[in-house]
Amino acid sequence: MSTTAFPESKCMISGQSVTPFLYFGMMPIANGFLTPDQFANEPRFELEVGLCETSGMVQLTKFVPPEAMFHGDYAFFSSTSAHMAEHFRGFAAMVRERYVPGENPFVVEMGSNDGIMLRHFAAQGIPHLGIEPSANVAQKAVEHGVRTISEFFCKELGERIADEYGRADAFLGANVMCHIPTLHSVAAGIKKLLKPKGVLIFEDPYLGDIVEKTSYDQIYDEHSSYFSALSVDFWFNQHEMELIDLQPQTTHGGSMRYVIANKGARNKSPIVETIKAKERRLGLNRLETMADFARRVAASRESLRSVLSELNAQGKRVAGYGATSKSTTVLNYCGLGPTEVAFISDTTPTKIGKYSPGVHIPIRTPEEFHSANPDVALLFAWNHANEILAKEARLGKFGGKWLLYVPEVHFR
Ligand code: TYD
Repeated sequence: MSTTAFPESKCMISGQSVTPFLYFGMMPIANGFLTPDQFANEPRFELEVGLCETSGMVQLTKFVPPEAMFHGDYAFFSSTSAHMAEHFRGFAAMVRERYVPGENPFVVEMGSNDGIMLRHFAAQGIPHLGIEPSANVAQKAVEHGVRTISEFFCKELGERIADEYGRADAFLGANVMCHIPTLHSVAAGIKKLLKPKGVLIFEDPYLGDIVEKTSYDQIYDEHSSYFSALSVDFWFNQHEMELIDLQPQTTHGGSMRYVIANKGARNKSPIVETIKAKERRLGLNRLETMADFARRVAASRESLRSVLSELNAQGKRVAGYGATSKSTTVLNYCGLGPTEVAFISDTTPTKIGKYSPGVHIPIRTPEEFHSANPDVALLFAWNHANEILAKEARLGKFGGKWLLYVPEVHFR
């Protein structure tokens, strides 16, 4: 597969140069779970991240074409975790109460997946529209009564929706903005679509958490950006919009919810300047911070490899838990395959029976995980640790242990 560098690895929001600081090598498609007949032609691409010191933006230096990742056979469904379902119920309730309390607001969501958030608006009869490019996932949302179109959002689509459906009171996004390389087109489309006092509210894995926890597994093909308050503010200032609130979240191992409005249209919370000042103090916009992060990532890899090779030497049976996109980065970067991790347990029907991208570890059902009683379960879905450790307490009863690699390699 060919990868397209954004013109000479330029920053997507400032147009200035991006300095690479962490190279992972040739990687497969993170969500590209596959069958043995596809092994020989499995696509690979270079994975590398860099920083633009002008905007504070951390981003991939090369992008995989979106069609290779989000298509009619996309493997990721949001509604696989009870905790996430509850999170999106709370997100929807917060938006309704705080930002669109009036009668019949129009709420649009980009990357609405299987309708996990919009179904709460649909249930109240609130006018809404989901935009979800993966047709199979969009179909699930429609089945849940969520009005959904299957397209990629851009400036032109923002204009078209405004013409056909009217302008929106709120534009929402969860774990989607970080997937989009054409950030200015998206911001321009949102600006066109929103009413003058409308709000954009989106959340994504937060650069501050990734750096603090050495959670390098957030870095994969689908995540073109790793946002901070500094970079998001820089981006929207160019569209005469501004950050008016920031709400840290625990999801995806540490996320940030960004609230943005037209300049001067709404009150700005003091937390915006507080968090931006903290980011400057931590050096989230400086190369030396990222170079230090890259050193910790390499050390984490050595540590995980040595623990697994020790377990292997002792004849322990290791199984993975959660065939996450994140696991594709860890397994391929650390060079771990079926010798080290016999299989990965996952609840997603479209992943079960297939093999993990790149290293081809079989994906099995949770029932098989239970009957295998592994000595060690390597938790790839560590962001759901509380939910999973509670429901899998039987692992410990059978003498098994959990192995985690965030914030450092440790057993639980
Ligand atoms: P998530 O962290 O959302 O994935 P990603 O890194 O791809 O963003 O993890 C969801 C994956 O973990 C999904 O494949 C389902 C699986 N999973 C289980 O198998 N069991 C569970 O109890 C939970 C919560 C997730």
